[in-house]
Parts: sequence; structure tokens; C-alpha cells
Amino acid sequence: METKRTLGHTGIGVSALGFGCWAIGGEWQSVDGQPLGWGKVDDEESVRAIRRALDLGVTFFDTADTYGAGHSERVLGRALGKRRADVVVATKWGNVFDEETRTLTGADDSPEYARRALTASLKRLDTDHIDLYQLHLSDADPARAAELRDLCEEFVREGLIRGYAWSTDDPARAAVFARGEHCAAVQHMANVLQDAPEMFALCEELGLASVNRSPLAMGLLTGRRRSGQALEAGDIRSRPPEWLKGFEDGSGADPRWLARVDALKDVLTSDGRTPGQGALAWLWARSPRTVPIPGFRSVAQAEQNAGALEMGALTPGQVAEIDRILGR
Ligand SMILES: NC(=O)c1ccc[n+]([C@@H]2O[C@H](COP(=O)([O-])OP(=O)(O)OC[C@H]3O[C@@H](n4cnc5c(N)ncnc54)[C@H](OP(=O)(O)O)[C@@H]3O)[C@@H](O)[C@H]2O)c1
Repeated sequence: METKRTLGHTGIGVSALGFGCWAIGGEWQSVDGQPLGWGKVDDEESVRAIRRALDLGVTFFDTADTYGAGHSERVLGRALGKRRADVVVATKWGNVFDEETRTLTGADDSPEYARRALTASLKRLDTDHIDLYQLHLSDADPARAAELRDLCEEFVREGLIRGYAWSTDDPARAAVFARGEHCAAVQHMANVLQDAPEMFALCEELGLASVNRSPLAMGLLTGRRRSGQALEAGDIRSRPPEWLKGFEDGSGADPRWLARVDALKDVLTSDGRTPGQGALAWLWARSPRTVPIPGFRSVAQAEQNAGALEMGALTPGQVAEIDRILGR
């Protein structure tokens, strides 16, 4: 398998695997106390994991200003240090948060806020440009988003960003952003349990990268989750909001999802892969445009996820077998 991808027509090259930096932001919450992070993290371990990923050939890192209310960007910036020039950094804007109290306080789709957010992200990441700047408001008004797309073109001309994307699961919205010359990608949900055929088709038609969030179904596909296994109180999966599928309030993973993961285990682990590596391999087989961005919290997870790259994509026969098992 080709282990490199290009982000749209921008000429920006990335490893076919990126690292998702949500969990390493640590704890943060909504104003009504809903946890929005993945529980406590050890920043030193996060830094070591990022550096290990660099050594293993990973050149793409996805974060957001709001992850850990600014903390993820700071940790990523610190971990990259002088190696910043060797990698492609993606971050997001649109959510409003309080860094002191680590609280999400709202959303802002105004152009003025976009410029303020960009300035703040550059500072936290300790860099002079963002490679891929992404609108984090998945359901934003398309007319407003068209204005933000044009503003992103201005940011490109000013040298503040190199390309941009919308993080959305709606192909019609993604197409609005794609009308901009430097729109390079769509970030959207995709994993072997949650296929996204329309979005893959759109990315292939328009030549955009398909950056896949939650490629491990928020940890379910790694095979580590057991029925009834409780999650830490500060972990979003312990009190899943409506949009978060596969977990139940207070009791961990949904047994129906675990049964599907179990049913796929033999195919995903064939050829010596771990289940998580098999889940990434499915995404690479699904489209030549995909760039999965699994989350991580330790050096061990970083090594296992980066190790998937050299094992490549599943075969068409394995993909067909998965469709048969899932009744697709
Ligand atoms: N709206 C958006 O734009 C949006 C939304 C969601 C995600 N994202 C992006 O997508 C990235 C990835 O998605 P995600 O964080 O939702 O979940 P994911 O990648 O599907 O799952 C990540 C989690 O799986 C577990 N894991 C990872 N590697 C493992 C390994 N090798 N062995 C065992 N367990 C492993 C870890 O959690 P445990 O160890 O706790 O099980 C890890 O935090 C995020 O970090 C973020 O950058 C963006």
C-alpha cells in the first residue's frame, strides 16, 4: 500500500495515518458538567507518544483548540518542538471555551471569531502557520460557512494557513467548503462499524482527502472494551451525549456493539494484525483517499497504531467478508 497521501490539490503530503489529539487534551467539560475529555492524562507520556510516532513515520497530527480547552494544542506544540517543520498540523475552530475553568461555553461562527481563534491557536501551538484549518461546527449554516470558506482563502493568502476543511458528516455541507481553491479535505466519522459511502464518494469525486475521525469507534474496535466495564468519571464515554454511539450511560460499552466487534475479530486480526490495526486497514481498503486519525494516550498505543501502516490495507476479499458479516 502507498503509505503517503496528498491533502486535496494543495500538494501537502502526509503519512496515510494521522494521530488524533483529542484524548491527550485531558479533562474538560460543558457548562452543565458533561465530561468532554477522555479523563485524566499524563502529559509526559503524551509527549513521548507523539515523538515515538514521529520516529515511526507519522507526519500528520489532528487537534482542536477546544480539546482540553487549549491543552492539547499546547502539548502537541511542545512535543513537536524543532520537528514542527517536518509535520503537517491540523487544528479546528468554532467552539468557545474558557481555558481557566476548562469549560466549553458556546460556539461562534463569525469571521471575527475565526481570526481571533486562529491567532490563539498559533500561539498555543508555537508555530507561525496551521497546515490544515478546520471548521469544528459540524452543523453550521451553509451560507455562513461559505463566508468562512472565503475567509480561509484570505488566511491562505496571508500565509497563516496552507489549506482548510470542514469537520462535518454532511456531504452537502462538505461540498460547500470544497468550492474553495485551497479546501483540502473533509474530516468525517468513519470506521468499519460506521461506513460513510456518500462521503467517500464525494472525496473521490472532488479529489479531497477523507480524514477519518473515530476510526477505532472511540476504542470499541481495539477489543479492549468489555461489557459492564465502567469508565472513569471524567471520560466522555462514561456519560455519552446523544451523538456518541456504542456506549451506555454508566455501564460502558453497548453489548450490541461489542457483539459486532466480536463477529469481525477473525477477519480484522488475520495476517497478524491486532483488532485496532485491522480497523485501520479496513479504512485504507475502503478508499484511496482515506487518512484515519486514531486517538492515543500512551507510547504503547502509539506504537501499535503506527505499526498498522506497514501492514497495509485489507484485501477486497476481507472487505467483502466484513460486509457479509455485518449484513451490508
Ligand atoms: N468533531 C470532530 O471534528 C471530531 C470528533 C471526534 C474525534 N475527532 C478526531 O479524531 C480523533 C480520533 O477519534 P476518537 O478520539 O473519537 O476515537 P478513536 O480514534 O476511534 O479511538 C481512540 C481511543 O481508542 C483507544 N486506543 C487507541 N489506540 C489503541 C490501541 N492501540 N490499543 C488499545 N486501545 C487504543 C484509546 O482509548 P482508551 O485507551 O481509553 O480505550 C483512544 O483514546 C480524535 O483524537 C480527534 O482528533 C474529531
